[in-house]
Amino acid sequence: MDKLVIEGGVPLSGEVVISGSKNAVLPILAATLLTDEPCIIKGAPFLRDTNTMLKILRSLGKDYSFHRDNIVVTSSKTHNFVADYKLVSTMRASFCVLGPLLGKLRKAKVSLPGGCIIGIRPVDLHLKGLRQLGTDIDIEGGYVVAKAKNLKGASIYLGGEFGSSVLATDNIMMAAVLAKGKTIIESSACEPEVVDLAEFLIKMGAKIRGHGTPTIEIEGVKELHGAEHKIIPDRIEAGTFMIASLITKGNITLRNVNIQHQSALLDKLKEAGATIHKDGDCLTVTAKRQLKPVNVTTLPYPGFPTDMQAQMMSLMSVTPGISIITEKVFQDRFMHVAELNRMGARIQREGPHAIIEGVKRLSGASVMASDLRASASLVLAGLVAKGKSTVSRIYHLERGYENFDEKLRRLGARIWREKE
Ligand code: UD1
Repeated sequence: MDKLVIEGGVPLSGEVVISGSKNAVLPILAATLLTDEPCIIKGAPFLRDTNTMLKILRSLGKDYSFHRDNIVVTSSKTHNFVADYKLVSTMRASFCVLGPLLGKLRKAKVSLPGGCIIGIRPVDLHLKGLRQLGTDIDIEGGYVVAKAKNLKGASIYLGGEFGSSVLATDNIMMAAVLAKGKTIIESSACEPEVVDLAEFLIKMGAKIRGHGTPTIEIEGVKELHGAEHKIIPDRIEAGTFMIASLITKGNITLRNVNIQHQSALLDKLKEAGATIHKDGDCLTVTAKRQLKPVNVTTLPYPGFPTDMQAQMMSLMSVTPGISIITEKVFQDRFMHVAELNRMGARIQREGPHAIIEGVKRLSGASVMASDLRASASLVLAGLVAKGKSTVSRIYHLERGYENFDEKLRRLGARIWREKE
């Protein structure tokens, strides 16, 4: 296993091309289970998670080729409806094969994704919605065993204790497109990745309206056909490079950004004093003066993304003054706090809040990545810390960032891999 070694202190500059969105490509790949015809997915990021989803598809009877950023998914002769524990347990997004398997085959056996380092991540909303479409669901030996003689459209309220759910909305939508009659999902997630999935399903012949709003309407159709689709840019990867520019007092231009998807983050960065220049799908982010602390609360889209919380915390750790970050989506998503403090940050946790007292400088240390976005926050901290940092367990990073260290190196970072 590799670890990353970083020698901090270099202002990053230059251009970086943002890859396709991880959270969009995974459910879109799952949606290919809804048809036996070939599907072409363009702009796909080459990630550990993409490959895990492709392995799951293969185990369910699909074939695929993955060249450059193009994936072609075709069907082999057999259909399997069991998604194995070994694959599902490594990636929560694999749970979204449940909806399309039910839609197409009217039966599915999918391993429960299990606990996760960022807190309890239940699936009650997924199951509630699918039950309302007429599915019988049992939990047997750690698997969700689902059967539906007839899937029937229904009115489903999908709001949970912590707001809407991205993957539950995806799962219900993918089952409902082949259900009989009309489904209305209220309190559906509005994330751009949900919209991208809906757009792909529409290209496959689905009838969907209202995606991107809290009420999605679906008129079931008999069958779907193959389609070609280009994945939206990854807004979290883009956000991470924006912070890389600011934290190192650099000057990075990001290409292939959907600026409309970045409103909450850009608003906060501007409030902190960042200079942001937009030009088509390019964005240049610089800190021309000392940044100011800002308070951030994570919320479902269009609020500030929880997936940018850890990276924002790294930036605030070196921004003089006090800032408060409140996590409202995953209340235990603070594993990075202890590791940032090892690097000299002053962060105190109080329930769902992190109180950050900005320090003049961080100092390099050996730290351990606990989850995907926490890993990114540690790399960002390493880029600005004095001396050498090592970030171990970087397989988390490889799950969600395409060539992260290489992209940073091209911007001037002193970052390399070593064997653990
Ligand atoms: C997706 C994203 C993840 C992001 C998260 C929130 C993918 C592959 N992953 O995860 O990167 O951090 O959205 O933006 O797209 N909840 C329930 N019951 C459920 C489902 C969820 O209570 O059945 C709760 C969760 O515990 C959490 C909140 O709802 O507190 C939002 O989670 P959810 O939107 O479901 O996250 P994911 O879809 O798993």
